[in-house]
Amino acid sequence: MPRTKRIGILTAGGDSPGLNAAIRGVGKTALGFYGMEIIGFRDGFRGLVEDRRLKLDKTTLAGILTVGGTILGTSRDKPHRMTIDGRLHDMTGVIVKNYKRYGLDALVCLGGGGTQKNALRLAQAGLNIVTLPKTIDNDVALTDATFGFATALDIATEAIDRLHSTAHSHHRIIVAEIMGHRSGWLTLGAGIAGGADVILIPEIPYDIQKIANAIRRRSKAGTNFSIVAVAEGAMAGDDARAYAAAEARKERARNQKEKHEAKLELAALEAQHTGHTLRLAKQLEELTRLESRVTILGYVQRGGTPSPADRLLATRLGSVCADLIHEGVFGVMVAARGDRTEPVPLEKVAGKRKTVPPDHPWVEAARRVGTSLGD
Ligand code: F6P
Repeated sequence: MPRTKRIGILTAGGDSPGLNAAIRGVGKTALGFYGMEIIGFRDGFRGLVEDRRLKLDKTTLAGILTVGGTILGTSRDKPHRMTIDGRLHDMTGVIVKNYKRYGLDALVCLGGGGTQKNALRLAQAGLNIVTLPKTIDNDVALTDATFGFATALDIATEAIDRLHSTAHSHHRIIVAEIMGHRSGWLTLGAGIAGGADVILIPEIPYDIQKIANAIRRRSKAGTNFSIVAVAEGAMAGDDARAYAAAEARKERARNQKEKHEAKLELAALEAQHTGHTLRLAKQLEELTRLESRVTILGYVQRGGTPSPADRLLATRLGSVCADLIHEGVFGVMVAARGDRTEPVPLEKVAGKRKTVPPDHPWVEAARRVGTSLGD
């Protein structure tokens, strides 16, 4: 009789709708279809270090498909830089030891770009790892989609829809800040779907005068309100150039000291960026003489029940994940490829980011319908 396979599962990074659907997809397939055992670790990689577990069985996996957040809890803790008693420690060795102590045959890590990097480190330390791509930002490399994105897109689009009537009634500019970290998928998607007049994304640095001109043109044509959808990471030309130069210095760094300096520079630029949306609205008010208001959508975009599209994506990626474990395929992320899936080696995914190509069909479509992209 072959021994029952035992797998661990954790969720890491920012939460996103669809995480529970994915846990259920992996869990039900592993338990019900393959007869494996499954243990959940709480709060990301920390649960593996601090021995905080949740046994996943028929009862714990029931009723979670439609629930937002993650029943396992999450954190941004990294295995190789974890704060314990106020100090940073490399806990990779402890994780490897505990993986063996629990008799795990595989560890499933659900997360975004950072989690793919951390998972690769654990795979290199000898663990059998399979990951799933989750994030509302849709910026994980080599997968068509990440679960969480579709729900956040619905929420941000509805917000833009609702802003239209109030902007129209008050003859105002309303600037809506949308999440996405350093990528513009969510803002571009919601901006197009919600009919924003201006869409600003990190991949296309903007010129404030060009945005003001677009809004003035609308006023001249008799429409004296505008909706500006701005990604949290969008930047004006000069700021974008300074950021790109610091990122290039980090990439080129020949030693730890140079890398550390570049990281400090990036952190300083990020700090300067804080409050950017408020400053943008103020500048537009001065340039156009239209009253401006700001709406920061924030964590509303990450909360609540996942959309049907995310439940579907998370369930099919989750069930394929259990198939791969059964087949002994490790060191991979389960990527979505149209209606199909593909195991992609973690080495190819880790450290890469999927950004919006400037000639992407969504960009072209936005331009065709007369939306200003601020360039
Ligand atoms: O990666 C998802 C995301 O929501 C980004 O869009 C955002 O920049 C970030 O997480 C916020 O992170 P935190 O939850 O740590 O504030």
